[in-house]
Amino acid sequence: MKIDLSGPLYDALKKTTAEYHQLKSKNDIQGSREKAGEIAILNQELAKINVSRRKELEEQARRWDAVSKGKTQKTSAKNTITPGMTKNNGEIEEEPDDLLQKANSLITSSKVTWSDIGGLDSVKKLMMETVVIAGLQKPESIKPWKGILLFGPPGTGKTLLAAASAGSLDATFYDVKSESVLSKYFGESSKLISALYTSARKNAPSIVFIDEFDALSQSRDGETSEATRKVLSSLLTELDGLSDKKSDQLLLTLAATNTPWDLDTAVLSRFPRRIYVPLPDQKACKEIIRIQTKGMDISGVSLDRISEKCVEMLYSGRDLSNFCQQAIWTMIHTVNPDLYKMAELPFDELKRRSLATRPLADDDFREAFLKIRSPMTKIMLERYEQWNIECGEV
Ligand SMILES: Nc1ncnc2c1ncn2[C@@H]1O[C@H](COP(=O)(O)OP(=O)(O)OP(=O)(O)O)[C@@H](O)[C@H]1O
Ligand SMILES: [Mg+2]
Repeated sequence: MKIDLSGPLYDALKKTTAEYHQLKSKNDIQGSREKAGEIAILNQELAKINVSRRKELEEQARRWDAVSKGKTQKTSAKNTITPGMTKNNGEIEEEPDDLLQKANSLITSSKVTWSDIGGLDSVKKLMMETVVIAGLQKPESIKPWKGILLFGPPGTGKTLLAAASAGSLDATFYDVKSESVLSKYFGESSKLISALYTSARKNAPSIVFIDEFDALSQSRDGETSEATRKVLSSLLTELDGLSDKKSDQLLLTLAATNTPWDLDTAVLSRFPRRIYVPLPDQKACKEIIRIQTKGMDISGVSLDRISEKCVEMLYSGRDLSNFCQQAIWTMIHTVNPDLYKMAELPFDELKRRSLATRPLADDDFREAFLKIRSPMTKIMLERYEQWNIECGEV
């Protein structure tokens, strides 16, 4: 249920909040605290009549009450809980300014494009479509996807896909590493999540990418820390998108994990699209080898045979990248056996010279096969495939 924008309580809240900010800007501590007290009461009143936002309004009331009593947060001296006001869809949200700043610092850009990714055509297409559909005029019932889960073995290109969407789609991109959010912003990470979504809504179209999602999800088995549980529950609230009712606003949450079975049903239900990012097939292997040997002459290489063997070796994209690097180094060592001796030369002198190379040959790759081993086993793959059948997309 939405707040009645014309409601007298809401009007009073708006007016009092503006007065608070005015007094605050004049450094009138006493006056601004009194206003904060009034705002707390108004929030309490609103909470009574607004069942769907009760918890949120009660929380705001508590925060304003703390402001009225001159209480500051524990984390840092400058980190006062004076709320910065953000209006969104006529609703009021309060986020501490410094948290919003931290959320904004997660906005990233990337130089990775779709052409840097071998294979995974259907996933690329889906992500492009999701963004395009958010922009187009459409009937009300057609809504862009809110949550996409990328799952699959390590090194298959999940993070790369996210980087490519940051690099190619016209959307604000937030790069959130679960582990670092939990540790770096320890104690305030759940608040950071709500600040993050406030910022993402403001800067829509936005994509929030939560990498290493497992760090959050492994949690519900009872051993979870309190902080992790709080982060997860803020995230679930945000994914429900209470304040995100505009269907033309793109706020896509993209999450990546290589242990999807650790996600519980509450989390999974917020990710209606679950995309399997598998090990590359022969065609994808060929494309990845081409990408990873860009600038080198591979015209004499039996790419079909090598790719076939890469599939047999259960290579991921990451293994293929290492595999190609290994082949390139074998070539470099054969052409430049005394390369290390050049270490004595000044760096400026090195910059004037160029490395001797030759086209890559099958032998270079043969050697690389001996050195690069995939950490995957058929049994592990079966687990992904089984999970995909049970919980992934058809
Ligand atoms: N499909 C691909 N095309 C081209 N390069 C790839 C592909 N997949 C992986 N790579 C290479 O492997 C590296 C690692 O890939 P990435 O980090 O995207 O894997 P991931 O699926 O996120 O792995 P993890 O589950 O371990 O986080 C990339 O930086 C890239 O060099
Ligand atoms: Mg990754």
